[in-house]
Amino acid sequence: MTDGARGAVAAPNLVTATGTEPVRVGDAVPWPVERGPAAVAWEDGMITYVGPADGLPGVEPEWFEGCTIAPGFVDCHTHLPFVGWRADEFESRLSGVSYRDLHGEGGIYRSARMLAAADDEEVLAFCRPLVREMADLGTTAIELKTGYGLSVEGELRQARLARRLAEEAPQTCSLTLLACHAVPRGMERADWVRAVREELIPAAAAEGLADAVDVYVEDIAFTLEDLRAVAESAVAHGLPLRCHADQLGPSAAAEAAVALGARSADHLNHVSPEGVEALGGATETVAVLLPTSTLFLGSTPPDARGLLAAGAGVAIATDLNPGTSPVASMPEAIAVACALYRMTPLEALAAATLNPAWVLGLAGTHGTLAVGRRADLVVLEGDAFRMVPYRPGHDPVLHTFVGGRRVGGR
Ligand code: NIG
Ligand code: FE
Repeated sequence: MTDGARGAVAAPNLVTATGTEPVRVGDAVPWPVERGPAAVAWEDGMITYVGPADGLPGVEPEWFEGCTIAPGFVDCHTHLPFVGWRADEFESRLSGVSYRDLHGEGGIYRSARMLAAADDEEVLAFCRPLVREMADLGTTAIELKTGYGLSVEGELRQARLARRLAEEAPQTCSLTLLACHAVPRGMERADWVRAVREELIPAAAAEGLADAVDVYVEDIAFTLEDLRAVAESAVAHGLPLRCHADQLGPSAAAEAAVALGARSADHLNHVSPEGVEALGGATETVAVLLPTSTLFLGSTPPDARGLLAAGAGVAIATDLNPGTSPVASMPEAIAVACALYRMTPLEALAAATLNPAWVLGLAGTHGTLAVGRRADLVVLEGDAFRMVPYRPGHDPVLHTFVGGRRVGGR
């Protein structure tokens, strides 16, 4: 029985991480384990029972034969809202043009032009089906980002659109101000960084338009010095820092993100041994890996096993964007993380639920199945979680519940 306010589901297998800290290989935090027949029950959207299927008092759970119950996926790195695809750039890259070569007429600047040319309703109409697709594929919490506004007003507009999308979405949404993504045309980098510090971040904070601030550190984007300058302003406004780090080449951004106490260092394809060590010892910074972006760009995979062995908290996300990862599917991101980054299925589960919930500051309520947490969960085809990465391209999500209400599946 699942009428929204109250409900209960049961299956031959249940798997979840526990606690509120990122799961790390070899540390004291309990590793996710798969257990026998188990049930989850909820009332008013909050979990009231997790345990043996036959121990549920007074309620008959809906039984899903051959299935696994798991926490809903938390996608902690996307570039929604955006408008328009760039499939022709994908095709050009296949014939040898690089992402760097496209940066200008194409790339981030092109998505910025498409966003500026579309009215608000067009942007939302483009994004809604993507949010629905994510719900169908088991994503129960989503990070939204700016970064295609490329002016103070443009960034604020994109942030307001993100908040509107969040209001409509069934999922919990968290909004990151990607204040430094590309240097606006006709502007010096230093002038934009100053505008970000003195105008954009204060205005976004005053209007409640940001839950975090992000900087893209890269030779085609911003420097470590810019990251530090923006971090200072983010901290002054009580906003956590995030960082696109070491994606196209090494820049020591991972180490800098750790030193600045950033919530996350994301991408990490070219993270140095020093960066791996820094993330391994970091208590404030999670390594966010974006495997479908690596696959789609044909990039060097990051040292994922090195990060895990060093003790880093690792998260996996889709990086959903029209350039480097037009992928909305967490099951697909999990499959690629296992096949390409050699993560085990249960490492990938922790990396797709509790660890990204921590990145978004939601670990107290999201990312695990435990009494008192939100009833955000998925019913997956297959009697073990390994069935998710085992069949790339197959949709394993039968039901997605957010706050105990069915919001998607197939
Ligand atoms: O995470 N690398 C920077 N930003 C995005 C891509 C943005 C785009 O190409 O539109 C990323 O890969
Ligand atoms: Fe990104």
